[in-house]
Amino acid sequence: MKLDLTEEQSMIQQMARDFAVREVEPKARELDKEGRWPTELVARMGELGLMGLAIPDQYGGAGSDTVSYALAMEEVSRACASTGVIMSVNNSLVCDPLYKFGNEDQKKRFLAPLASGKKLGCFGLTEPASGSDASHMETVAEDKGDHFIVNGAKNWITNGPHADTIVLFVASDRSLGAKGTTAVVIEKGTPGFTQNPRDHKLGIHAAHSCTVFFENVKVPKENVLGEKGMGFKIAMATLDGGRIGIASQALGIARAALEKATEYAKVRKAFGEPIANKQAIQFMLADMATELDAARLLTLRAATMKDKGVRHTKESAMAKLFASEAATRITHKAIQIHGGYGYSTEYDVERHYRDARITEIYEGTSEIQRIVIAANTLKA
Ligand code: CAA
Repeated sequence: MKLDLTEEQSMIQQMARDFAVREVEPKARELDKEGRWPTELVARMGELGLMGLAIPDQYGGAGSDTVSYALAMEEVSRACASTGVIMSVNNSLVCDPLYKFGNEDQKKRFLAPLASGKKLGCFGLTEPASGSDASHMETVAEDKGDHFIVNGAKNWITNGPHADTIVLFVASDRSLGAKGTTAVVIEKGTPGFTQNPRDHKLGIHAAHSCTVFFENVKVPKENVLGEKGMGFKIAMATLDGGRIGIASQALGIARAALEKATEYAKVRKAFGEPIANKQAIQFMLADMATELDAARLLTLRAATMKDKGVRHTKESAMAKLFASEAATRITHKAIQIHGGYGYSTEYDVERHYRDARITEIYEGTSEIQRIVIAANTLKA
């Protein structure tokens, strides 16, 4: 695999780094503490092309690629994991399926405003009674000829309280399981579609999620993505891309923790010298740096495969599994290196530790990633 970045990929990485360092990082602690939705940062990401990075410019995107998206996600998430996942959901879970499975009319109507950041999207798959077992959904769509009537609820919907558009997965025929699932697009303001206030969570406090409800919502057939019955495959193919985004978010969180632990180890003195001189600390830093690089290599491999149009289900699952679990280990060690100060909200590493934890859960738990990797390994 070629590892050199193209000039364009390096430029996007640098642009995202400048934005993250100058505009996102100074606010990250306050956003976390207040649980404030970063309205101004979401708007800036739209202006900078970060909300539809890999979408062609004719549909409002930046016309770049998945590798650039992964690099930018790492930079933004290094500064603020909440801002990172807001960006990831819009890019991977909303714009990507609209681009891949939407018709020309849907691309103009729905994709262009989302990819340009004028509107914000969310992805409705998870339900109160089904997360990992995604094909067993209770949100139903009754076929009425030229439209569906949708009833049900979806929960843990990242961006949900603020989203203008939802890519929603519904059971159009529950007797068919996965093959009876359909993807539809619904816009805010459609009668019967309501969005709850935000959930309260351990981490990523500024990235609001919520439960959304559908009560006799009339959805015209023009809003069906792909074809009736194709929904589950659309969801799974979309998550293959989404998992690259979450792996990159985990990378950003882990890198922030490693950088802070390294700096701290150089200045904190114990037993008459900086703790960085102690082998116990050096071994921790060595493991953290190695795991971070391994996670990045897995992530960039999956992103490169996506850009080449090669099936990357297993590679995305590996990247997400390893990067998320590495982020938990790295942020854990970062607290350990900081000692008591690491446990204090005066320092950032406790935020990184809390933020890392969700990357092992959303867009498929670590257990689901192992199922996907094992299934693909066994059938090879
Ligand atoms: N791409 C295309 N098609 C795929 C696919 C993929 N990656 N994975 C599966 N499919 C197809 C299969 O080929 C199969 O089709 P055929 O019947 O025609 O062969 C069909 O889909 C069903 O596949 P499986 O039998 O493998 O499905 P399953 O019911 O056993 O489930 C699973 C597999 C891996 C457990 C899946 O349910 C899964 O990934 N669950 C986790 C869901 C998840 O990640 N949820 C996260 C919610 S989103 C979120 O968190 C967003 C947020 O807010 C941040």
